[in-house]
Amino acid sequence: MAKNKKQIITGIDVGTTKICSTVAQLEGSEIRILGTGWAVSKGLKKGVVISLSETIQSVRDSLEEAEKESQSIVESAYVSVGGSHVEGINCSGAADVRGKNGEISTEDIGRAVHSARSLDLPEDRTVIHVLTQDFEVDEQNGVVNPLGMNGRQLSVNLHLILNASAAVRNIVNAINKTGVLVDGVVMQQLASAEAVLSSDEKELGTVVVDIGGGTTDVAVYGQGSIWYSKVLPVGGNLVTKDIAIGLKAPLCEAEQLKREAGSVFPESVAAEELIEVSEIGTGRQRTVLRRTLCQIIQARCDELLKAVARITGEIVVRTDLISGVVLTGGGSLMDGIVDRAEQILQIPVRVGYPVNVVPHSHPAFHPAYSTALGLLKYARDIHSQVVPMAPDMALGMRSVGPSERVKNWLMEKIG
Ligand SMILES: Nc1ncnc2c1ncn2[C@@H]1O[C@H](COP(=O)(O)OP(=O)(O)OP(=O)(O)O)[C@@H](O)[C@H]1O
Ligand SMILES: [Mg+2]
Repeated sequence: MAKNKKQIITGIDVGTTKICSTVAQLEGSEIRILGTGWAVSKGLKKGVVISLSETIQSVRDSLEEAEKESQSIVESAYVSVGGSHVEGINCSGAADVRGKNGEISTEDIGRAVHSARSLDLPEDRTVIHVLTQDFEVDEQNGVVNPLGMNGRQLSVNLHLILNASAAVRNIVNAINKTGVLVDGVVMQQLASAEAVLSSDEKELGTVVVDIGGGTTDVAVYGQGSIWYSKVLPVGGNLVTKDIAIGLKAPLCEAEQLKREAGSVFPESVAAEELIEVSEIGTGRQRTVLRRTLCQIIQARCDELLKAVARITGEIVVRTDLISGVVLTGGGSLMDGIVDRAEQILQIPVRVGYPVNVVPHSHPAFHPAYSTALGLLKYARDIHSQVVPMAPDMALGMRSVGPSERVKNWLMEKIG
């Protein structure tokens, strides 16, 4: 988060299809968008850098657009990370209470958390989030804040988010190479949930499903905390690829057909309705049944929704925790997906638009921006100390210092 005088905060969502930068100003607790930038994401596959130079260029393009619109210069930012290597695990630990008169102290909490985190993790993994679910004081469970309570033993349940260290380092490196410091990295679905969920939904039990281009990121909330997270290696781009293969069409045309003529309900399309498709390679125009297009879309979307259903089914059996599902990300705009999800999941489903920022008239009020706008809320809460950062987030942060970036910007302005 940039901490200049105006309290400017910045988020960069490093997605598979787009890099999205958002610059905002904190006005009390309100987050006012000043500018956004969008660039086609090149150099990344399912959240992992496969070409550093292309990733750097995409980040640079996106940042420059956001800086131009916001009339500001970005010095540092919170950055989203995703991909199949992101892994959420639950763990617990306990500590004897040693505080004065049997009162639980911050040191006792620290020891309980430390004991929960003392897992043997592979060396190539980095803990990017340590999220507290709840505490137990002696036999009393469901304690939200045990500080100052009386007891003999304190237990804590945590949700840890792990990431492949090299994957995080490559993203941070790419951002640094544009001259921007990384304030912190945030798991994509955590950021999206910040943007689209109300506190009531987090309390009552809600699943956030961010359907992106490369992956679908799932997070389950209940009693105000995150209980489960998973990255599914299926996203909207796979649907497009299926269409391209199935209809022998170029990818860009498959994408357009998906958005403009696609639906997850083939049976709702007239049996004889035709669409025009050009043949890959020759460009020759042909007609195919629109229903065929929709059957291809349904098959892949069903596979995805059934994978989500396996997660929600398991959670409901274990905890009876879920009252609804919120779909977000660009893939949540697929025609009919909410109804199809309700059929498969048997839970109320809605599309999640970002609600945490103003003005609501900004074009960024779109499910594809949920992660980017959620990063701003995350940044704000860290700024006001609501969310502690994972203590072992030791990121290499500088390659080009901010002063150099500001200097370049000034040179451009004053010639
Ligand atoms: N109107 C629409 N109908 C159907 N699909 C859509 C629509 N708009 C966008 N999409 C799909 O959404 C996907 C991109 O979503 P999004 O921008 O959230 O991805 P991303 O954040 O870049 O990817 P990831 O989160 O996997 O890194 C693409 O597959 C795109 O085809
Ligand atoms: Mg995304």
